[in-house]
Amino acid sequence: MKGLILAGGSGTRLRPITHTSAKQLVPVANVPILFHGISHLVAAGITDIGIITGETGAEVTAAVGDGSALGARVTYIPQDEPRGLADCVLIARDYLGDDPFVMYLGDNMLQHGVTELVEAFELAARTSEHPTLDGPVPLPAAQLLLTPVPDPHRFGVAELDAEGRVVQLVEKPEDPPSDLALVGVYLFTTAVHEAVRAIRPSARGELEITDAIQWLLDRGERVDAQILDGWWIDTGKKDPLLEANRLVLETIEPRVEGTVDGASRLEGRVVIEAGATVVDSHLRGPIIVGPGAEVRSSFIGPSTAIGADCRILHSELEHSVVLEGATVEGVARLSDSLVGRGAVVRRSEQRPRATRLLVGDDSVVELG
Ligand code: DAU
Repeated sequence: MKGLILAGGSGTRLRPITHTSAKQLVPVANVPILFHGISHLVAAGITDIGIITGETGAEVTAAVGDGSALGARVTYIPQDEPRGLADCVLIARDYLGDDPFVMYLGDNMLQHGVTELVEAFELAARTSEHPTLDGPVPLPAAQLLLTPVPDPHRFGVAELDAEGRVVQLVEKPEDPPSDLALVGVYLFTTAVHEAVRAIRPSARGELEITDAIQWLLDRGERVDAQILDGWWIDTGKKDPLLEANRLVLETIEPRVEGTVDGASRLEGRVVIEAGATVVDSHLRGPIIVGPGAEVRSSFIGPSTAIGADCRILHSELEHSVVLEGATVEGVARLSDSLVGRGAVVRRSEQRPRATRLLVGDDSVVELG
């Protein structure tokens, strides 16, 4: 079985953090979302992984390399335009060959990874080799993961029959037939290749994978669905990203490889990476402080990830993600925030007292 990770598309939904960089590389607990996905596939025994890349392909390639650091063998498949999830399957045809595969959306994160889904599919494949008294059991052409959500119109939505079989799928419907959203992990046999060739672009101009699966259903193919166990996050926006960060930080093992002076106090799960320094500060975990970062005379509260080479000086910060090389200085209380790479947030002593900003396109600043 192979893996196909979709890391193309445009990063517009996390602007301005990602309009110049890949949203799949935004870190959760200081590890790019994409790396979490690759590790989950490897944990399920899938080491041959194709990665679809788009306009941020150079950056994705530089970060992941040949995948060997994560135990994978990665092949890159460039997509010239984000033409839809089904287009990704279309252009990966040669790479995928006749193997069944897991398609994984590179901006999604699942608490328990994909092992259970892969096992359920393998079980279905074995069962279908042994016909019952009622005749042969067809191999499912697709195996999906679903989860109830409060806002199904933002997702692909599935309708199930009384036996729990998928009967209908619709992409971002105005009037959702159920509250069961498609989670961004799909398992396919070769049957999907004919489906992605047969469908036409949707009203928003994309080749939708939901339409391809609906095409399989219309042809009488078996499509199985499992209800997701554990949390799942589609990290394209700030708040889900902070939530994923919070959930992953809750599972980290405390570790101090950097230096912490005698005037500082660490409480709970705190990771201080090598080369980081903590001086005269109070850190209440779960927190991760990246390599080379400096925390001085500050309070850092729970659910905070501070990237490599950041400087947090004379500040209070909690429930936030601070990306590589950023500085937060003299800020009384910063919460629920995402601070981009190399950004500077500081209190100014200039007179007259005023808030002075240099804010990038599409930024959001909420003054407290
Ligand atoms: O997150 C789950 C949802 O993901 C599902 O419920 C929907 O049915 C499914 O269509 C998808 O919706 P999104 O609108 O969230 O998809 P998005 O455009 O964010 O793309 C998902 C990933 O695939 C992302 O990492 C970018 C990548 N991608 C996307 C497109 C359209 C590509 O690599 N190429 C593409 O052409």
